[in-house]
Amino acid sequence: MSTIFAGLVTLIMLIIMVVKKLNQWRFTTKFGAKLPPGSLGWPYIGETLQLFSQNPHVFFSSRQKRYGDVFKTRILGCPCIMLANPEALKFVLMTKANLFKPTYPKSKERLIGTNAIFFQQGTYHSQIRKLVQASLSLDTIKPRIPKIELIAKSTLNSWADGRVVHVFQELKKFTFDVAVLSIFGELDSYYHQVLKENYVTLDKGYNSFPTIIPATCYFKSLMARRRLSQIIRDILNDRREKRLTTRDLLGCLLNFNENGKTLTDDQIIDNVIGVLFAAQDTAASVLTWILKYITDHPKLLEEIQREQMTIYKANANGEQPLTWTQIREMQVTHKVILESLRMASIISFTYREAIQDVVYDGYLIPKGWKVLPLFRNIHHNPAFFDDPETFNPSRFEAATIKAHTYMPFGYGAHACPGNEVAKLLMLVFIHHLVTHFRWEVVGPHSGVEYDPFPVPEQGLRTRFWRTS
Ligand code: HEM
Repeated sequence: MSTIFAGLVTLIMLIIMVVKKLNQWRFTTKFGAKLPPGSLGWPYIGETLQLFSQNPHVFFSSRQKRYGDVFKTRILGCPCIMLANPEALKFVLMTKANLFKPTYPKSKERLIGTNAIFFQQGTYHSQIRKLVQASLSLDTIKPRIPKIELIAKSTLNSWADGRVVHVFQELKKFTFDVAVLSIFGELDSYYHQVLKENYVTLDKGYNSFPTIIPATCYFKSLMARRRLSQIIRDILNDRREKRLTTRDLLGCLLNFNENGKTLTDDQIIDNVIGVLFAAQDTAASVLTWILKYITDHPKLLEEIQREQMTIYKANANGEQPLTWTQIREMQVTHKVILESLRMASIISFTYREAIQDVVYDGYLIPKGWKVLPLFRNIHHNPAFFDDPETFNPSRFEAATIKAHTYMPFGYGAHACPGNEVAKLLMLVFIHHLVTHFRWEVVGPHSGVEYDPFPVPEQGLRTRFWRTS
């Protein structure tokens, strides 16, 4: 019996090896290019277990060390090529962006909406992108500073009752409200409330197991998505009835007209939900990291406090709203934000898929393979950033950052159009935090959790007190 079993195992191993060799041969002969080094691991599962059983950064870095800046692996059944040098990222995200389409899990696409900007390429993508950029441009967001201040103050005041705050979760409320402001401008409080309630349910489904079994997280999320569509449709109809023309995102999408072609309600709804999705967790995660870094570096916190108190006093002890000029003067705080974006690299990589066979630097990227530009690996490469594991905002003082080595907001055709709003909301929040509050991190905070973005352990459990 045991001989038959041993024979069977040997036969299976042999078949696997032959299939592997054949695959390698098939690719090596195409265009004379070869697949990048690396291991595709076991059939189908590839190296999925290795990735999920350790810190993903360790997984990527160890392979980069072993195989170089371009290497292959297989995750969740998909053969992938990882790219960890600036030239390769430029190639995929900019120079040959037309050969690589954005790709997301179908379950996520269903929740956000298939017409949303992330999943698009070509003309439709450029049209939507122009509208999103217009609604998030500096000219549009500058007049919103006083509103963002009000949201920041009300968020912080709600924390200062001595309770332990799960900072990441609470910051998600702040970033949601700022996103709503960018999308809808002035919004009736009833609509704001129902949007928030349903978005919270939708949000819980993004990272849950996709199934349509009732009462599961994903199913509830799908139902919330349906209700959100109806709510946004009602807001749209209200605006149409009142013939309102506004410069917020909804206004830009609603007024789009190119040679008589306008956007459908579904296209508008998917992009509204898409921007909410893009804005909320990203900015909340970075702000949570900033709070951790400035708590860990008291001297830096003092510097930030000095900078912000000068502005606070100039504004009659906070009686007057912040101006755009003052925002521009927040040099120390700005550098802390830039360094936090590098250190935390919350979008550590993005996904693309080759739409045809492509050769890069003698390596074949076969059609249908996933391509993952690894932003974090570049941000933490000592060749580009001295002593990369040290938090050091002064590295942003001199203009020494090499081209295409700093990409916290991505690069190329899909680079983040919300980067100015993100920086503005962080600066405003930090201003009110350090001029009015002191705090103490009470939970463990040396570890990292993935939600799916990295956040400090337990969302950074902290107590806050008002100082003025
Ligand atoms: C600190 C916070 C943020 C970070 C680190 C961040 C980062 C990124 C990155 C890396 C991408 C490119 C993804 C890719 O190439 O696949 C992206 C895309 C995008 N971001 Fe952000 N983002 C932030 C905040 C925001 C905010 C506040 C908004 C909107 C108000 C926003 C809206 C978008 C949109 C709409 C896209 C898709 C663009 C396209 O596909 O053309 N982001 N973001």
